[in-house]
Amino acid sequence: MTVQLANVARAAALLRAGELVAFPTETVYGLGADASNPLAIGKIFAAKGRPADHPLIVHLPDASHLERWAVDIPEAAIRLAAAFWPGPLTLILKRHPSVPDAVTGGQDTVGLRVPNHPLALQLLREFDGGVAAPSANRFGHVSPTTAAHVREELGDAVAMILDGGPCAVGIESTILDLSGGEPRILRPGMLDGTAIGAVLGHAPAFGGQQNAPRVSGSLEAHYAPRTPLQLVAAAALAAAAREALGAGRRVAVLAAQPPGFSHGSLLYCPASSDAAQFAHDLYARLRELDAMGCDVILVAAPPSGEGWRAVADRLRRAAAGSK
Ligand code: TXA
Ligand code: MG
Repeated sequence: MTVQLANVARAAALLRAGELVAFPTETVYGLGADASNPLAIGKIFAAKGRPADHPLIVHLPDASHLERWAVDIPEAAIRLAAAFWPGPLTLILKRHPSVPDAVTGGQDTVGLRVPNHPLALQLLREFDGGVAAPSANRFGHVSPTTAAHVREELGDAVAMILDGGPCAVGIESTILDLSGGEPRILRPGMLDGTAIGAVLGHAPAFGGQQNAPRVSGSLEAHYAPRTPLQLVAAAALAAAAREALGAGRRVAVLAAQPPGFSHGSLLYCPASSDAAQFAHDLYARLRELDAMGCDVILVAAPPSGEGWRAVADRLRRAAAGSK
């Protein structure tokens, strides 16, 4: 513990000096920089290879920091923050004039969240400011859920990586737009619309607005493994695997049930039938499967229903991005 505390102090000092620090959150690892320092923010975009007009989420130590970053904060935001922070919920609010354009991509809104991970919270408290952090992967790749993934993705591009073990949630936060108009989920996450609706008093809307892309995760070519990934109805999986094998391809199958036959070029990777566990494992599994050198990854399409919405969203994007 003493070692980690010393690391946190060093990490906060690096952030103050304008350097990049990767840190764990409950969702995925973040690539952090001082959100008030445009030069430091520039290093995030360079390290990730990310287009500069894509806005970043600012991570705060607690909800009392909201007013330093946002204005016209609706009462619903206060209630949601009280209910779900620290936790996997990002609120889009009207930006405070002092928020650098480099953070917001020049938009009049800012994304804010308090992450639920002890190391992240220690770092944010020690830093006592906002830390802008996208997922700590190169642009378009699968998000990292361990410190080792961050090292593979970013290596020397980051001054320090805080290792907080595997992320508990495993996929990115739910993004809820409260910047005007009706509350709208721009990116589904494991904190689902039902839970948010219960606090709002009505169900949120879903999906991006016409003037998208405001959420880079809304681009289809996102969250993609390098190996082509296809979503197949569970009942059609065995037939799809046989067909690909018949065409001489090496096939990986990610599903709750094995395909029911074996073949020298078929690799079966068990998946959980529980949505939270599936989400927890998803990105690590995609990385492992990518390393196996298969020609295609066949994934059993998840069940419908609100609890699976975020997983279905990431799988759909991974499939679209790998075509
Ligand atoms: O769970 C998470 O949210 C992780 C951890 C590190 O906190 N972060 C994350 O960051 O997923 P990133 O940059 O990979 O995705 C953040 C998303 C982007 O799609 C970005 O476009 C969107 O948030 N975003 C940020 N600010 C926004 C804004 N003002 N309006 C709309 N979307 C915004
Ligand atoms: Mg990302």
